[in-house]
Formats: sequence, C-alpha cells, structure tokens
Amino acid sequence: MALIRSSAGALLLLCYIHVTFAIVPATDTKLMLVLEGDSITDNGNVYKNLGVPNPKFYFPGRFTNGPNWVDYLTDTLTKFVKNVTVLNYAYGGATACANSETATLVPSIKDLGNQTAAFLADAAAGKIPKPSADTRVVLVQWVGSNDIDGALRQLAAAQAAAAAANTTGPDLQSAGFALATAIVTCRLTAAQTVAASGVVSDIILLPTSPLYQAPAVPDVYRPAVTLLVNGIDSALAGQVKGLAGTFSSTFKTRLHWAGDSSWIDRLSTSIVPPFKNMTYPCLWNPRSVLEKLDNLTVCTDVDDRYFFDQIHPTTRFHKHFALKGILPRLQQLRGLVPRRVALNRFVM
Ligand SMILES: *[C@@H]1O[C@H](CO)[C@@H](O)[C@H](O)[C@H]1NC(C)=O
Ligand SMILES: *[C@@H]1O[C@H](CO)[C@@H](O)[C@H](O)[C@H]1NC(C)=O
Ligand SMILES: *[C@@H]1O[C@H](CO)[C@@H](O)[C@H](O)[C@H]1NC(C)=O
Ligand SMILES: *[C@@H]1O[C@H](CO)[C@@H](O)[C@H](O)[C@H]1NC(C)=O
Ligand SMILES: *[C@@H]1O[C@H](CO)[C@@H](O)[C@H](O)[C@H]1NC(C)=O
Repeated sequence: MALIRSSAGALLLLCYIHVTFAIVPATDTKLMLVLEGDSITDNGNVYKNLGVPNPKFYFPGRFTNGPNWVDYLTDTLTKFVKNVTVLNYAYGGATACANSETATLVPSIKDLGNQTAAFLADAAAGKIPKPSADTRVVLVQWVGSNDIDGALRQLAAAQAAAAAANTTGPDLQSAGFALATAIVTCRLTAAQTVAASGVVSDIILLPTSPLYQAPAVPDVYRPAVTLLVNGIDSALAGQVKGLAGTFSSTFKTRLHWAGDSSWIDRLSTSIVPPFKNMTYPCLWNPRSVLEKLDNLTVCTDVDDRYFFDQIHPTTRFHKHFALKGILPRLQQLRGLVPRRVALNRFVM
C-alpha cells in the first residue's frame, strides 16, 4: 500500500476508504433494541408459554403468516450495524394499562407495566449494556390496541344490557375520553419509569395501530374507533412535545414521537403490487387467537391481502412496515442507524 505513490493511486485509496466507511459500520457501534408491545410485535413470547397462535395456520410464534416486522427489521439492521441485539418483551394480548380480565384469564400475558418491570430486572442483572456514545439502547414502545378492543367489547355489552333493561346506556363520548386518557397515561408512565432508571438512550413511542382498518371492527364502530385512535395519537404527540426536554435534561434519555397512525394506514395502500383485498382477512378466527382452533379455513391468495386474520396484517405488510415505515424513521434519529445508501433507498 505504501508503495502506491501516484496521485491516481492516492485517489483510489481515498475512494476505497470512503466507500468502506459508507458501507461498513464502525466496529464499536452497538445497538440494542428493546421492544415493548402486543401481538403485532411479539415474536415468540406468548408462543413459548401457550403454544398459540396455532402453528398449523400461523408462522410459529408470530401473529401472522410469516416473519413479523421485528424479524424483518432485525434481519436488515444486522446487515448494516455490526452489533445489534434485540430484546423483545412484547406479548400478544398485552394492554398498555393493567387489565383484570387478561390478568385473570391469561396471567402469563404481561401488560406494559409488567414488560417494563421485566426489562428493568434484566438491566439490574447486567444484561443491558450501559448507553454511551457508541452504544445506543433504544426502547420501542407500541401498545394500546388491546385496551381499545377490550373497552369496545365492554361498551357493546353495556349497551346491550341497557337496551334489554330499557335504561340509558353508557355515554360513548365520556367513555372514549376516559379510555384515551388512561392509555396515554399508562404509556407515558412506562416510558418515564424506564427513562428514570437511566438504562436507555432513546425511547420511541409508536402511534396507535390504525385499528379502525381491522376487519374485526364492526362498521358501526369504525368512525368512533378512528376518533379514538386519532385522539390518543394527538394527546401523545402533545405530551411528548412537552416532556422531551425534561426527559433529556433530567434522565439523559431522548423521547421520540414517531408520528401519528396515518403513516401506518398509508403504508397499507402504498405497497407494490397493491393488496387486492384490503377488507377481508385470509382467515377468520371465530374465537380469540389465544384459543387453538384446528378447523380454520385459510385463503389461497394471502399475498393479495392486507389482513391475515381479522386483527393482524399479513407478513407482506409487516415487511413493508419494517423497511419503509420503521427503518427510515430510525434513520432519522441521528446516530442510531447509519444512513447508508442501501438503506436510504427504502426512505419514502
Ligand atoms: C455485542 O455487544 C454485546 C453487549 O455489549 C456484547 O456482549 C457482545 O460480545 C458484542 N458482540 C460482538 C460480536 O461484538
Ligand atoms: C404485573 O402483573 C401482576 C400480576 O399479573 C399485577 O398484579 C401487577 O399489577 C402487574 N403490573 C406491574 C407493573 O407489575
Ligand atoms: C322503555 O321506556 C320507555 C320510556 O321510559 C317507555 O316508553 C317504553 O314503553 C319502555 N319499553 C319497554 C319495552 O319497557
Ligand atoms: C375479499 O375476499 C372475500 C372473501 O375471501 C371476498 O368475498 C371478497 O369479494 C374479496 N374482495 C375483493 C375486493 O377481492
Ligand atoms: C371448529 O371447532 C370448534 C371447537 O372445536 C367448534 O366449536 C366449531 O363448531 C368448529 N367449527 C366448524 C365450522 O366446524
């Protein structure tokens, strides 16, 4: 190498160095991704305990027909960041706020508070590297749909009971407001608990899933669910704006709000080739996905569908979401994921 004296050689060497830096990340870059959430994010926790969803129909350990977004994201990140570790605390069926029905019926499902406690226990046991200039410990929190789902079922039951007894049913507006407030509070409390412990460098709050698109939501409820999702998102956005400064000065943790749910919604129509069937899932699970039914009927055109079952998107959507939705947003957080040419082509 030292023998190359010509300016062309020097130039070549420079180009080589430049290209090397552009493609291979620094060897000391460490990224630890910590995930908290529900069935969209769970890639094996519920399965380990309960053996569901039924692997006869679902990809083992995933609430879809193939890898989920965490799998796709991990796969891509490990190609570009030298040292990526993913710790997934998400549980299918998990809620943002403690839920007595879930705690009684399926106690192995950990709600957000329990997931946070489990992560902090791992941190206390020395399993999480300390955040530093070259070690980013990034918590992604995405939860709330099951709180909405549970509340909707309770409201529907209360309305039916009121109709049967010829009395006034619950006031939908105040019930919705209370629910939204509870979800926002539970999510921010969990974020603050983690930040205060000093074990993460970044916390990313993902918006509420666009639950109003799910086939499971009866058409009559769709407008109300849309209002609810938007209400939760805008409350969270406002709170994060107000809290980010305190998080960074008091806890040395960056708090990020990853936009409202409309970008997730838009991803469902920007996929190429487009989904042919946006509204009807590949299979309809008449019971909870946590029950192991053997007699479901599965479609033959799953790649044409947005939803695999009446709540969960197909693996094709998960991939699109991971690469075109999450990845570019991670890249926007400075220093977290290198903005490489190969990755940037995913940005939209
Ligand atoms: C990656 O980082 C973890 C946590 O700091 C460490 O235990 C592990 O040895 C690293 N792996 C490599 C390949 O450097
Ligand atoms: C965790 O789960 C237990 C029992 O399931 C429950 O009593 C507790 O309130 C939950 N929340 C936290 C934050 O530990
Ligand atoms: C229900 O209540 C209304 C007004 O309170 C009354 O007019 C009506 O007859 C009641 N219907 C039944 C089925 O009891
Ligand atoms: C979607 O699938 C359902 C049943 O699988 C079918 O009845 C419906 O016509 C399909 N819609 C479109 C637009 O293909
Ligand atoms: C599927 O199995 C469940 C539970 O065994 C049963 O209750 C249900 O009737 C079955 N459905 C059909 C369509 O056979």
